[in-house]
Amino acid sequence: MKRFKLASLPLVFLVFLWVSACKHDPAEMPNPGGGEEPEICDTVNVTFQGSVFPILQQYCLSCHSGATPEAGLNFENYEDVAFVARSGQLLGAIRHEAGFTAMPPSGIKLSDCNIAKFEIWIRDTTFTEPDPGGNTCDPDTVYFQNTILPLLQSSCGIIGCHDPGTATGRIILTDYNYIMNSGVITPGDPQDSELYEKITEDDPDKVMPPPPNASLTAEQKAAVFKWIQQGALNNYCDQAECDTVNVTFSTTIWPVVQGRCFGCHNGPNAQGGISLDNYTNIAEVANSGRLMGAIRHEEGYAPMPQNGSKLSDCNITQFQKWINDGTPNN
Ligand code: HEC
Ligand code: HEC
Repeated sequence: MKRFKLASLPLVFLVFLWVSACKHDPAEMPNPGGGEEPEICDTVNVTFQGSVFPILQQYCLSCHSGATPEAGLNFENYEDVAFVARSGQLLGAIRHEAGFTAMPPSGIKLSDCNIAKFEIWIRDTTFTEPDPGGNTCDPDTVYFQNTILPLLQSSCGIIGCHDPGTATGRIILTDYNYIMNSGVITPGDPQDSELYEKITEDDPDKVMPPPPNASLTAEQKAAVFKWIQQGALNNYCDQAECDTVNVTFSTTIWPVVQGRCFGCHNGPNAQGGISLDNYTNIAEVANSGRLMGAIRHEEGYAPMPQNGSKLSDCNITQFQKWINDGTPNN
């Protein structure tokens, strides 16, 4: 969220300029959205219930409510409004920006005053993630923070590819806002999402990650598909319990390596000359002490995963247990 705020600073500044203009010159407020709005634009007391929701009611709910809302967005649910607000789609749509479907679609544009209210509300709101209370993992849900982000960071957002410094094709795949703003995800529609197309491409000249890097596994592709289909939310969950007793290579270690390390550590270009693409190579790095040094962020080792969040304490304990057991291939 911090990054989102920083990225929004220029926007906030523009809004500020606009708001000042709005306050000083209320009589000049253009009002192409219809004659019903008052001429004076109240941008001081902007709240969701008092300012934003009435606009949605008047101009949006006719299509975005009920059992089958347009674009799967039901703006009677705060979560759906928060989702498009957070992702930038809401402002893009009502400002009729390029790359967004203009909303409302009828050719009418909201008045500048109403757009300013959305801008102020979004600027002043810290959008919490869905379900802030109980976040235990639902096996039928794919979570961005747990599964998708680490995968994209290690397979796509690596230095020299889709990182903020390089940004091949201006597509940055290192955090939620960058990912959503890259235009490669259509929430709810994986088939219409360039990201999904690229990772499932058959043509070796087009597939991502490009050879000689390994393609994503069938499970990883399926996870991306499902995450987009479920709305491409910025969600996370807490792993229910940490099983540090039944630790095996195939069910515990390998999935973590695949999700968090493999993208940077496979093939002839494996980063740091460290291959983590099969049991033998992983066991070798583990037995050299470098694996634990790196994931524990010990002094003298490059902290891993590079540029990503540290592995959970649970995962670190599991790796240690597997090594203490003699790195079995089980
Ligand atoms: C007449 C019906 C209708 C009205 C009224 C309407 N929408 Fe939509 N909205 C749609 C449809 C249809 C789509 C899907 C468009 C697409 O995918 O190209 C959509 C998509 C969207 C999206 C996703 C945009 C994108 O770029 O993918 C947002 C955000 C949105 N609407 C917001 C709003 C807001 C805010 C209002 C009111 C100011 C509104 N809509 C009013 C029909 C409507
Ligand atoms: C975004 C790419 C990226 C990801 C993801 C990544 N690594 Fe690395 N890794 C690197 C780079 C680059 C180096 C070389 C760093 C250096 O030498 O400063 C490296 C070096 C290492 C080293 C050698 C460290 C040392 O100081 O001896 C180990 C061990 C390692 N990685 C393990 C892992 C493990 C385990 C994971 C997953 C939990 C992981 N890496 C995830 C890029 C990555």
